[in-house]
Amino acid sequence: MRKACVQPLDERSDGSRLIARGGVLGMQTKGSHGFGYYKPRTSFPPAPKQAEYIAVSIQLSRRVQRVKPSPTMAATARAARLKAEGRDIISLTAGEPDFATPTEAAEAGIAAIRDGATRYTDVGGTTELKQAICDKFAADNHLHYNRAQILVSCGAKQTLFNLCMAVLDPGDEAIIPAPYWVSYPDMVRLADATPVIVDTTIETGYKLTPRQLAAAITPATRLLLINSPCNPTGAAYSRLEWQQLGEVLAAHPRVLIGTDDIYEKIWWADEPFSTLAEVCPALYERTITINGVSKSHAMTGWRIGYCGGPAEIITAMATIQGQSTSNPSSVSQRAALAALRGDQRCVADMNAEYQRRHDFFIPALAALPGFECRRAEGSFYAFVRITGALQRLGLADDQAFCDRLLETEGLALVPGSGFGAPGHVRLSFATSRAQLEAALERLGRFLRSA
Ligand SMILES: Cc1ncc(COP(=O)(O)O)c(C=O)c1O
Repeated sequence: MRKACVQPLDERSDGSRLIARGGVLGMQTKGSHGFGYYKPRTSFPPAPKQAEYIAVSIQLSRRVQRVKPSPTMAATARAARLKAEGRDIISLTAGEPDFATPTEAAEAGIAAIRDGATRYTDVGGTTELKQAICDKFAADNHLHYNRAQILVSCGAKQTLFNLCMAVLDPGDEAIIPAPYWVSYPDMVRLADATPVIVDTTIETGYKLTPRQLAAAITPATRLLLINSPCNPTGAAYSRLEWQQLGEVLAAHPRVLIGTDDIYEKIWWADEPFSTLAEVCPALYERTITINGVSKSHAMTGWRIGYCGGPAEIITAMATIQGQSTSNPSSVSQRAALAALRGDQRCVADMNAEYQRRHDFFIPALAALPGFECRRAEGSFYAFVRITGALQRLGLADDQAFCDRLLETEGLALVPGSGFGAPGHVRLSFATSRAQLEAALERLGRFLRSA
């Protein structure tokens, strides 16, 4: 930290150079990469004519240059653009439920606004919501946390980001099984640590094996980020598989674990959903169990995620949140409270519909030439290995496949390379049965065009 002192702008000593023309001020810095335009917002000094704008070079942080924008969002945006241009596009890129937020939750949000629950809350969430989350963890997962062990954030995404920022240092490694949710490696990089990617394949059900985990752990390993059911594969760990991974982790007390259970409620495996801290109580003290209402209650836009974990880590994560966003929206917290406390039949109904779509869609995809696809335990994604299809069509990779498919058939999918799994594509079935049928028809035509 240093104290600021008042210094005329044109005498700055940090290498930046003041440029002034026609009443417009801008700054040029040493070693710059990009150029932007500095446009004065006020009319004093008088706004210049367009021709008088001056190029201003912009030096971005090394941190931001280490990360890339989300490929899922890029694919969604591209499909939306073509649709807006009038093309007949089917998009299976969505990473969110296609159902409306349950009425009870929506009404609670509206009532919160009317009641004036529109002020800051505690950084980590209201007492009522934290208690509802404690009760949810106890009832659904047999995990017992007190309120000091709960943090509510602006979506599970912020929960994960807080976790990385709170526990990772430069030189630390975070193990991430691939295929992974696109944001994990970049969050680790933003925290100045190193993502260590462990590849899994369709042959092992896209699941990390105990042997792979043991081989990936080094003295630098600080965190394991694991998602079950998984986006993009829909694969989920059984109790036995958690136990086996837990045995490996028990021998490495420095390793913290973040389990991302955001798809917990979209589930149709033979055995009930389970999570690591529940199955392996010995790891409770170093596991952060992450969840939220985005997928379970079709509330992606409300931005409420949460976690339970060791109080010390939760406090550190709250400190990060307190210096970035502070509390998640007070209105959304009221809606999430109603969602968690209310009738859960809506969750079961949505799940039943996802399962119907899954049972129809996966076998139909697996029957297409050059496509390999396994049944999922949960989530609303189909993940397909397309190496056979690439060969048939003479296409270089999954990106080329998605580009050609969008161009010729107007069908948008997400390339697997964004999930650390080249040679795959992800299809979301969070859409109507009619759209899925039409998508299958387009895919069939495309694959048989070889
Ligand atoms: C695996 C996984 N974790 C976390 C998130 C983020 O959820 P939220 O919308 O609550 O931030 C997503 C969203 O797509 C996800 O797929």
